[in-house]
Amino acid sequence: MGWKTEDVILRPPLDDADPLAEGVRIIGIGGTTRRSSGTERVLAHALGGAARAGAETKLLGSEALDLPLYGPGVAEVSARVRRFLSAVRRADGVIVASPGYHGTISGMIKNALDYLEELSDEERPYLEGRGVGCIALAGGPQAAVATLDTLRTVAHALRGWPTPFGAALVASHSLFDGSGEVKDAKAAMQLELVGHQVVEMAAMQRQAQLST
Ligand SMILES: Cc1cc2nc3c(=O)[nH]c(=O)nc-3n(C[C@H](O)[C@H](O)[C@H](O)COP(=O)(O)O)c2cc1C
Repeated sequence: MGWKTEDVILRPPLDDADPLAEGVRIIGIGGTTRRSSGTERVLAHALGGAARAGAETKLLGSEALDLPLYGPGVAEVSARVRRFLSAVRRADGVIVASPGYHGTISGMIKNALDYLEELSDEERPYLEGRGVGCIALAGGPQAAVATLDTLRTVAHALRGWPTPFGAALVASHSLFDGSGEVKDAKAAMQLELVGHQVVEMAAMQRQAQLST
């Protein structure tokens, strides 16, 4: 008996969105400096999924992530660094999207995540207690899967909770339409699910706080 990916990842209708998810803040960190970065576009799609599940979303793409090389204790406190850290601090959940570069996450994404060391002494350090949706986009499946694994490892190291479902996508002409929207139905569903799961985790956190 066979099964289809669609059977596994189809979600309940959006009308069923948890009221506790309303207004949770989900940020997207990802992209490349390439014009019309595919990584940024798949991230935008996943954030759309989060928005449809009730979240307020914000995408931090290559411009926001164009940060100086991080060094412990010498983080240059530029306005851009401050904005980046403040967005992470305020977030109830995060979606990280990286291209596969030479078999793993790109330097730009790793550098941005290294900046979270600056949040180590906070009441809610790093990404503690927050859902982290992970998305990888690469030229081939091996790099996509390896990149997804690395994103999950980094999310764990930052005390975040990688969502059960992560998306490992292969860049191809059929992934996007002419206007840059994700047109591949399976990829679109996977990205939507990542967005939903981050919001679900944020709603669970709210529920837990209400019951304490
Ligand atoms: C420096 C560099 C290294 C790359 N390394 C790999 C790789 O090891 N494996 C792979 O499948 N694709 C690799 N690629 C292809 C990218 O993962 C792919 O083009 C991805 O879609 C880029 O994302 P973007 O559209 O957001 O720029 C590499 C691309 C670049 C620029």
